[in-house]
Amino acid sequence: MGRVGVGFVLQPEEAYLELLGPVFGAGADYFEIAPETTWWPEEDGRLTANAFAGRFAALGRRWAPAGSPSKPFVAHGVGLSLGSAAPADRPRQALWHARLAEDQRRFGFRWLSDHLAITCVDGEALSLPLPLPPTPAAAAICRRRLAELASICPAVAVENAAHYFTYGDPCDETDLIAGILELPGAHLLLDLYNLVMMGQNLGFDPARYLDRLDLSRVIEIHIAGGSPSDPRWLPSGRTYLVDSHEAAVPEIVWGLLEAIAPRCVGLRGVTLERMEGTVGQGDVAGIADELARLRGIVEGLG
Ligand SMILES: [Fe+2]
Repeated sequence: MGRVGVGFVLQPEEAYLELLGPVFGAGADYFEIAPETTWWPEEDGRLTANAFAGRFAALGRRWAPAGSPSKPFVAHGVGLSLGSAAPADRPRQALWHARLAEDQRRFGFRWLSDHLAITCVDGEALSLPLPLPPTPAAAAICRRRLAELASICPAVAVENAAHYFTYGDPCDETDLIAGILELPGAHLLLDLYNLVMMGQNLGFDPARYLDRLDLSRVIEIHIAGGSPSDPRWLPSGRTYLVDSHEAAVPEIVWGLLEAIAPRCVGLRGVTLERMEGTVGQGDVAGIADELARLRGIVEGLG
């Protein structure tokens, strides 16, 4: 893998892995997995490896580059809840850390990221990640959570998430990110689709948000596509762009990637995200084309 790699997400769905195997096997330098998709909760609360842990590890070996035992893996968590500070959540966090440490031994994650959000309140999981207020207190909570992860994985990152409302100016989220990145060695996972989606839904120019970020701290970029919500969902008929990851990457995201990636001097990977349950035979060629296009952009970075 060169200075900047091309990544693809492995999802816990057999049809997805079968259909796309040759595409991501040849077209990706590393695999990204959500650690939670490889877990099984035991009755006593412990988290043990499920069948997809072995399936993903086997795919790493199957598509290993010459001279290496496995294709590299990176971890992208969805539910640790970086913004959770309640004492009632400490036992859950301890179980997650124990499981993540096991996963780290198995997969050797190059880096580990999670979303800038709160997904668990007093031990209860939320169905939709909620935004955090852009305050020093919220940044301090996230720094503590990330510092704990840094004791498990050699590099950690926070991802700008997809939120449908924010506390005040959406671009003030960059203040929260700057506060979190006061943690030495912490990085940013910049999700360009999430940014475009929030810009469209909440009415701001992604360029204004990007101008306020320290791009030298970006370790990984995500690209993906999504679709508008059903007009029947809201009485007003208003639609929102949804982070559904089921569609082709839109041109606005490709354009932002080409403009931003050369300025991300610490960038190590650009990952194409796709959701399980959204890939049929008719989607395979398009995803292969997207990985090839991404390869061309990454190779241009030198
Ligand atoms: Fe993402």
